Amino acid sequence: MMPVHHVAAAGTSFAVHTAGSGLPLVLLHGFPLDHRMWAGQVALAEAVRVIAPDLRGFGGSGGSTTTGIAALADDVAALLDALRVTGPAVLCGLSMGGYVAQHVAVRHPEKVASLVLVDTKLEADTPEARAARDDLAAKVGRLGQEIVADAMLPRLLAGSPAARGLPGRAATEAALRRMIIEQPVATIQAALAALGGRPDMTEAMRHVRVPTLLVVGAEDAITPPECLLRAEAIMPCARLLVVPGAGHMTPLETPEVFNAAVLEFLRAPPGAVDGAGPRA
Ligand code: MLT
Repeated sequence: MMPVHHVAAAGTSFAVHTAGSGLPLVLLHGFPLDHRMWAGQVALAEAVRVIAPDLRGFGGSGGSTTTGIAALADDVAALLDALRVTGPAVLCGLSMGGYVAQHVAVRHPEKVASLVLVDTKLEADTPEARAARDDLAAKVGRLGQEIVADAMLPRLLAGSPAARGLPGRAATEAALRRMIIEQPVATIQAALAALGGRPDMTEAMRHVRVPTLLVVGAEDAITPPECLLRAEAIMPCARLLVVPGAGHMTPLETPEVFNAAVLEFLRAPPGAVDGAGPRA
């Protein structure tokens, strides 16, 4: 269980799970999910202050439409103010949450001590990917959320026979399906438009000099390891971890490995190269 409370910010009410104390670690969920995808990270609250919101329109948060990833990043900044998080936080985002975290780093650098970018990428959609999102947005309007679950589930988790045979696999798939089906259609459609319209962040992220941990499942079929390898090559203070046996949901699929990597990163962040020092 991840209890939530409601916080007013940016003209809406956000459902937020908070636990622990100390350094704030903001966990930003992927599409079309909510804070519950971080169930395996509850244990991190023994070391840090975990803040896991539902982004605008998702889960228990209000406001069914978003105008773009930058607006979601502005929401996160406003939410941190509303939660009275005064110092910079660790921004950790998976996939869509990773796009949001990148925009927070660029638009609100004073809010970001370090980044954990998980199963995500810096590049914008290709025209084909954008067309597929438009198609899915139209279908979900006609047929409902099941169509999104059917489209996404086969690609969310690791596909190798070993991963498929793991105990608990069916329960994880069922939990993800339930989470997808519970997201409002209008939120899914707005998020698909935001994802398709997001800018390429490659140039912007070259100049983000905070310590960054990049994590990707070796079997990620949506944002494969090459995406994060490219990010590692251009980001001045980034270190990449490729996690065997995980797909696109590394924190959910391999929570012990993921949590240990985050704690190690917080203990010993990657140092500066080429004179690019981590910000205090
Ligand atoms: C996600 O997991 O958030 C989505 O797969 C992101 C995307 O489709 O680009």
